[in-house]
Amino acid sequence: MPRRILPRSLAGRTALVLLVGLILVQVAGLTIHALDRVDLQRFQQAREVSQRAFTLWRTMLATPHDRRGQVLADIELPPGLRAALDDEPSARPGYPPPPPPLVRLLRVEAIMSAPPRMRPREALISGGPRPGQMLASLRFPDGDWLNLRIELPPPRPWHSETFLFAFALMTLTAAALTIWAVRRMTRPVVALAAAADRLGRDVNAPPLPENGPSEVATAARAFNTMAERIRRFVGDRTQMVAAISHDLRTPITRLKLRAELLDDEEARRKILADLDEMEGMIAATLTFARDDAAAEPSVPLDLAALCRTVLDETADARPEAAEAIAYEGPEHLTITARPVALKRALANLVGNAVAYGGAARLWLDPPREGLVRLRIEDAGPGVPEDQLEQVFAPFRRLEASRNRETGGVGLGLPIARNILRAHGGDVVLRNLPRGGLAAEVTLPA
Ligand SMILES: Nc1ncnc2c1ncn2[C@@H]1O[C@H](COP(=O)(O)OP(=O)(O)OP(=O)(O)O)[C@@H](O)[C@H]1O
Ligand SMILES: [Mg+2]
Repeated sequence: MPRRILPRSLAGRTALVLLVGLILVQVAGLTIHALDRVDLQRFQQAREVSQRAFTLWRTMLATPHDRRGQVLADIELPPGLRAALDDEPSARPGYPPPPPPLVRLLRVEAIMSAPPRMRPREALISGGPRPGQMLASLRFPDGDWLNLRIELPPPRPWHSETFLFAFALMTLTAAALTIWAVRRMTRPVVALAAAADRLGRDVNAPPLPENGPSEVATAARAFNTMAERIRRFVGDRTQMVAAISHDLRTPITRLKLRAELLDDEEARRKILADLDEMEGMIAATLTFARDDAAAEPSVPLDLAALCRTVLDETADARPEAAEAIAYEGPEHLTITARPVALKRALANLVGNAVAYGGAARLWLDPPREGLVRLRIEDAGPGVPEDQLEQVFAPFRRLEASRNRETGGVGLGLPIARNILRAHGGDVVLRNLPRGGLAAEVTLPA
């Protein structure tokens, strides 16, 4: 089957196979039923026709010659049987032989083997001018002929309407059940994919429920074990980074003291500046590691109020840019999040906008399709297109912006993304057509 018509999902494919199978089985069942019914109808019709033909012959035989026509006209014959009185037989040897099934069904030989008193003087049997017909001519002792034409009416296998209705209802029910069962069966796969996706963004994502059918429970358990190992692994690494950073502080302090003793003024200044920078990086790393370790609980919070607080605090810290800081959005918007972490993430983004773009306009959109969207725009130079993702790497700073005033270490964006992804959201950067950078944040509503 070409790939285009095959459904893409596992559920779709399984349902398709089962439904095609169901249709084949139903068609076969219907055919068997119809054939059976045709057989039965044929048998009943033939029995009736043969009985009536026999009775008719006996009646005619007992009727005087001159009254036969009248009696025959009064007798009602079943469908498929026609009778006429004649002085010639209608069955002719020249006609094709009678259809064997009819001969078998009608048991013509019964008339011939009747008691001598009832037996016709002569009997001819042949096929009729049309296929499926049988002609039987029986001769009375006085020489006249009773010509019978037998042609069974076409079978009606779909006679019963209730049967067809019940059959359609049965098929529809089976199809609906199949689709329902398949969807239910493949739901854990979808859940597993979602959990894996979530784990990629947040190692602390809640574990999968380990219930349901045994295969599903086993898969969920295996997944949870794997997540737990990843969590431990990441935790160990973070702790190691924290330990190294912590231990580096002492030698740096020592180096600073030694540098103070240098005579060369220029060299001393440069060395101290480098050491300051190292200290800054270590402090940021430690904060990062500490935040990661602190399992702050999620609580309902007012995101709109949090945004305004972050903007106000940034404006206080940088009075020169206060004019260019603005908030647009609802008065209140409650979401569930970790307040301290979320505030740090937003503060990093707003801080960047003010530091590199001289402005911070924050738009907060009400929830749509389960997501809250938030946009922070500035009026700066933006970031080269090929660097939009790179700047999320730790310690990544763009050379052009490496100046003392902004004084960052390059952890602001990675921390912000880390926190937002841990919430099940994300942040991406986009250059605005009219210049400036937009940081677009999504958060689950
Ligand atoms: N709004 C912006 N406009 C232009 N460049 C930006 C913007 N935001 C970030 N950048 C670039 O991305 C780099 C990384 O930003 P990030 O916040 O991670 O680190 P940082 O601001 O340098 O240091 P800090 O750790 O103090 O935040 C910045 O050095 C800057 O070059
Ligand atoms: Mg920053």
